Amino acid sequence: MSTIDAGLSGQFKIGDLTVNRLGFGAMRITGKGIWGPPADRAAALATLRRLPEIGVDFIDTADSYGPDVSEELIREALHPYKGLLIATKGGLTRGGPDQWTPNGRPDYLIGQARKSLAKLGVERIDLWQLHRIDPKVPRDEQFGAVRRLIDDGIIAHAGLSEVSVAEIEAARQVFPVATVQNRYNLTDRASQDVLTYCEANGIGFIPWFPLAAGKLARPGGLVDRIAGAHGATAGQVALAWLLARSPVMLPIPGTSSVAHLEENVAAAGLALTASEIAELDAA
Ligand SMILES: NC(=O)c1ccc[n+]([C@@H]2O[C@H](COP(=O)([O-])OP(=O)(O)OC[C@H]3O[C@@H](n4cnc5c(N)ncnc54)[C@H](OP(=O)(O)O)[C@@H]3O)[C@@H](O)[C@H]2O)c1
Repeated sequence: MSTIDAGLSGQFKIGDLTVNRLGFGAMRITGKGIWGPPADRAAALATLRRLPEIGVDFIDTADSYGPDVSEELIREALHPYKGLLIATKGGLTRGGPDQWTPNGRPDYLIGQARKSLAKLGVERIDLWQLHRIDPKVPRDEQFGAVRRLIDDGIIAHAGLSEVSVAEIEAARQVFPVATVQNRYNLTDRASQDVLTYCEANGIGFIPWFPLAAGKLARPGGLVDRIAGAHGATAGQVALAWLLARSPVMLPIPGTSSVAHLEENVAAAGLALTASEIAELDAA
């Protein structure tokens, strides 16, 4: 695998915007506990600046990463984002490191999306995702806020995160759901029904924690064996498996290191054999 080009992962259309399927998650460019500035600011900026050079044109962030830190660094490194789709999220508040609390009040969601618009320095947010459905607020009120953001031209497309099929169907009564972001990887396929639904309905599926391979990556394990056969790493096999699993799959591995970024994006050029994919499917 000598070529590092996210374009080799294939393409997906989010509304009218085409992206390469292997994207980048910008949660890891903040401090420990996804709180405050990164330990190595220069490395975080260098990682972001490397993205367009290796074909990564889909970047996922959130107002709550830092908070604000991730959006601010993305702007510093990449504004005015020529050819890049910057997706952000709102709906989780932060009290401190590793603390996340939903707030789905419509006025809060609308205010946060407007804040992201200003932080990112864009006229319209390409893709804005409801980070969580807040169980304390009627979900239709939250979906209504998303509808208003679209109608007011604040956001172009909207997505959901950590949702069930029933919740996606309820949201689609109120606004077009462009993407769904749920945890999904080799060792955690609890959202398989959601992936199947997204594929059937042309909705982008963004699997978070995509690099996890768990016990499958232990020495002599299935992922380790397949990685060895390709001169690849376990993480690269995990990403290549995701990309092969569905044409609507949009993995967003995250890192604050250029070396790790390059390793992850090289997975776009890793072609697993049909029998390897079948073994991983069955694992
Ligand atoms: N919607 C949600 O609720 C939700 C929740 C969590 C995450 N997300 C999104 O999903 C993205 C990815 O999720 P994630 O960060 O949990 O999982 P991930 O991307 O699978 O894993 C990231 C971790 O792996 C390390 N890593 C990355 N590349 C590596 C490599 N080549 N070799 C060794 N270690 C490597 C990173 O550390 P280094 O910095 O040291 O490389 C980091 O600790 C996030 O950035 C965020 O955008 C969404």
